Amino acid sequence: DVSKASAFGLDNVVAAETPLSHVDGEAGRLIIAGHDVEDLVAAYDFEGAVALLWRVAGLEPAPSGDDVRRDLGRARMEAFRLVPALLAATRGLSVTEGLRTGFSLLSDEGDLAAHIRTVGSAPVFIAALCRRDEGKDAIAPDAEVGHAADFIRMLRGAPASEAEVRALNAYLVTVTDHGMNASTFTARVIASTRAGMISAVVGAFCALKGPLHGGAPGHVLDMLDDIGTRENIDAWLVREIAKGERLMGFGHRVYKVRDPRADVFNKAVMLLTNGNERVRFARDVETAALAALKAAKPNQRLDTNMEYYTAVLLEALGIPRVAVTAVFGMSRVAGWSAHVIEQERVGRLIRPQSRYVGRWPDDKAA
Ligand code: CMC
Repeated sequence: DVSKASAFGLDNVVAAETPLSHVDGEAGRLIIAGHDVEDLVAAYDFEGAVALLWRVAGLEPAPSGDDVRRDLGRARMEAFRLVPALLAATRGLSVTEGLRTGFSLLSDEGDLAAHIRTVGSAPVFIAALCRRDEGKDAIAPDAEVGHAADFIRMLRGAPASEAEVRALNAYLVTVTDHGMNASTFTARVIASTRAGMISAVVGAFCALKGPLHGGAPGHVLDMLDDIGTRENIDAWLVREIAKGERLMGFGHRVYKVRDPRADVFNKAVMLLTNGNERVRFARDVETAALAALKAAKPNQRLDTNMEYYTAVLLEALGIPRVAVTAVFGMSRVAGWSAHVIEQERVGRLIRPQSRYVGRWPDDKAA
C-alpha cells in the first residue's frame, strides 16, 4: 500500500520553516543559506560556512568566519584533553560508535559554547579513534591551521597539501545542511524538548549512522572492491539487484534526478586525483549501475546520490573507510547546530500524533 508507506515515511510533510537550506528534488538543486551549493563551495571554507549558517539561524552576536576559525581552533585544543577518556570509554568500538560516545562526553553547559565545543571536537575525536585502530598515538591539534587542514594533519601526522585541504573543504561545506533529513529532524525533536545541544547532536548522529542515511559510503567502497574488475561489473550488478539488494549510493527520498552534491564531489575528486584508475573505475560502475537499475526498476526514478562520490572522494583523501560516516557527522554537526539554534528560538515542543488501530476495550465483538 503505497500511500500508507509514504505516510509512515512522513513523505512530503513540512515539519519546519527554515532559511537554512532547500532541496529541490525535481530540479536537482540544493540551496544552502541563499547560495546554490556549487557557489557556496567556491566562496566558503568550512569555518565560513559554519559562520554563515549560524548567522542565518539568528545567532547573536553574528559571528564572522574568523571568529569561528578562532573558536573552533580553541575547541579542538579543549577536546584533545578528553581524548584519554574517549579512548578508555570506547575500547572495541568502531570509529562511528566512538564518535557517538565522544559527543556524549561533552557538557551541555553554556549556550554558544556547547555549539562550538561540539563542532570543534569532531575532527579531534575521529582522528584519535582512527589512529587507535592503527595502533598509533593521538596527535595534538594545531589551533592556528584551519579545521579541514588540522583534521588531515591529526589523522596522518603530516601536513595536508593545499589541494587536499581544498577538496576536504568542498566536502565539508557541501554536506553541512540538507533540508529536513532524518538526522536534522531528530536534532530538532530533541532540541524542542529543551534537552540541549549535545543531547540533540548525540541523537542526530545516531540517526545519521544508518545505511539509509549517512552510513552508505563505506558500503559503496565495499561494492567497488567486491566488483573488482571491469569484466565483473554487469554480472555483479544484475546478481545483487536480482537478490533484492539495494545498490549503495543510488536513490533518494527527495531527489528524483541526480543529487547535485554528487557532481560537486565528482569534480573535487577529479581535481584531486587527475582522474586516476580508481576514479575511472568508480565512474564505469556508476554508469553500469544506473543502466542496471533502469532495466530492473523501470518505474522508479533512481539516480546517483552524494554518498557514491563521498566514498570515492574521502578515499582519495586517505580517510579510512571506517571513518567516512563519522566525517559526514563532522560536517553535518554544523547544520544540526544551526537547526538547534532555530528550534530553540521557535520554542514549541514537537509532538505529533499517531492513529490508534488496536482493539478498543469496550468493543465486545473484537
Ligand atoms: N538500489 C536498488 N533499488 C532501490 C534503491 C537502490 N539504491 N533505492 C531504492 N530502490 C527501490 C526500492 O527497492 C523500491 O523498489 P520496489 O518498489 O520495487 O521495492 C523503490 O526503489 C522505492 O524505494 P523506497 O524504499 O520507497 O525509497 P525511499 O525513498 O524510502 O529510499 C533511500 C530512499 C535513500 C533510502 C534508498 O534509495 C536507498 O536505500 N538507497 C541506498 C542507500 C543509500 O545510498 N543511502 C544514502 C542516501 S543519500 C544520503 C543522504 O542524503 O542522507
